[in-house]
Amino acid sequence: MANPGVALPERGVPHAELLRRLDALAASDADWRGNRVFSLVYRQSEAHDAFMKEAHGRFFSANALNPMAFRSLRRLEADVVRMTSGLFHGGPDTVGTLTSGGTESILLAVLAYREHARRHRPWILRPEIIVPASAHAAFYKAGHLFGVRIVKAPLGPDFRVDVAAVRRRIGTQTVAIVGSAPCYPYGVVDPIAALGELAGRRGLGLHVDACLGGYLLPFVARLEPSERLGDLPDWDFRVPGVTSISADVHKYGYAAKGASTLLYRDMSWMRHQFTVEADWCGGVYVSPTLAGTRPGGPIAAAWAAMNALGQDGYQANARNLMAIARTFADGIRAIPGLRLLGAPCASVMAFGAAPGGPDILAIGDRMEAAGWHIDRVQNPAGLHVILNPGHAQTAAAWLADLAEAVDHVRRHPELASQGSAPMYGMIAKVPLRGMVRRNVRAFLEQMYRPDAEGTDAPPHPESPLDAGAALPPLVQGVVDAWVRWRRHREI
Ligand SMILES: Cc1ncc(COP(=O)(O)O)c(C=O)c1O
Repeated sequence: MANPGVALPERGVPHAELLRRLDALAASDADWRGNRVFSLVYRQSEAHDAFMKEAHGRFFSANALNPMAFRSLRRLEADVVRMTSGLFHGGPDTVGTLTSGGTESILLAVLAYREHARRHRPWILRPEIIVPASAHAAFYKAGHLFGVRIVKAPLGPDFRVDVAAVRRRIGTQTVAIVGSAPCYPYGVVDPIAALGELAGRRGLGLHVDACLGGYLLPFVARLEPSERLGDLPDWDFRVPGVTSISADVHKYGYAAKGASTLLYRDMSWMRHQFTVEADWCGGVYVSPTLAGTRPGGPIAAAWAAMNALGQDGYQANARNLMAIARTFADGIRAIPGLRLLGAPCASVMAFGAAPGGPDILAIGDRMEAAGWHIDRVQNPAGLHVILNPGHAQTAAAWLADLAEAVDHVRRHPELASQGSAPMYGMIAKVPLRGMVRRNVRAFLEQMYRPDAEGTDAPPHPESPLDAGAALPPLVQGVVDAWVRWRRHREI
């Protein structure tokens, strides 16, 4: 047996005992209920959560793999797609599917563009997709899985993709380009209209990754300009060149986890994401998305969330969130030594050190020590927040702790080479990217080794390594070397 400590129990354990154990395990998780976490969890209210569990539970065993058996789920999925198409100004031909999350939506879009090119431009042997440097990492996963080269285009000084750089990267093998609305790292919307013009002129697909903003931006756009953070240009199907949009209902749609939408302007693009295996001895196999079995719970919950909140609920949420975002943005701007990275248009933002300001990664360590779960961005180094309605309750405390952390690090510049700060700095800057990749992979292997208890602090999904986790010796060696090199440069 791989791990002698854990085996299937001889006799079933009573439910109450198991639920107690689950609660005990959850107690060591980041404190998202206390609004001290700024990513991973999107939450409208406790009452809404309870309703989501009810709706999810109704379809707990249902399987959308066979829509003939579960016509209900096909109907719910179609309703979610139609409601979403309305939000994104889709037309009568707009089509789409529900998927398990933003990553699956992005994987499918990349697959569809590759297959579309195979069919319509068969001379393309090594398909390429051009993405902004700020595009989500899921595009690289897709590129890896489907043999599509992901070509990175740099950002301009406003952290939006440089359209001229995208234009220069279009070549004979290009099948599509990508923009985000907004991007995860900085919360800014790429110049979708200019990308659409480019895509239309060159006959390319244009995918807009609105996984984060899809269920928020339509309502932010309806607010008075004074209620918004800044301008919000068109980013949806109103832009002529946009051919597909991904949007996560399990983020600002406030649905249960496991629900994203992928919409196409028309079937001529979407049909390329389908799998049909006619010769399988198990029968003719048809699958519209990546998963085989498609759990019914998230589909029902997505439908229920959208109907329960309605236009007025999402509108009220957007107004509330933008007020919270303004509190955070103004509060960050008011702290000497900090600067926002770009001009965020919604409730996602990153900030770094102003020129001559204190080390932002050491500030991140100080915030972690104060009990906040903080995400880091790199190139340039920064800290990152995704806001939820509950952050209204913790905004003042967070900003006070941030001001204290900035002051503390300013008085203790040596903190830049202690804690996890040098590790994050090293990970971002070390020229040997291959070495970083190998070491993070080694860390993953260690976490999934057969005898792993699974209770070690895991790396944060959006960060290369968790700040509190013990580092594998090789990584620690690299970190130490980096710190020595930095100290040497400072002498
Ligand atoms: C812009 C963007 N795209 C895609 C994703 C991936 O979504 P998921 O984690 O649901 O797979 C995220 C996740 O935060 C995101 O912010």
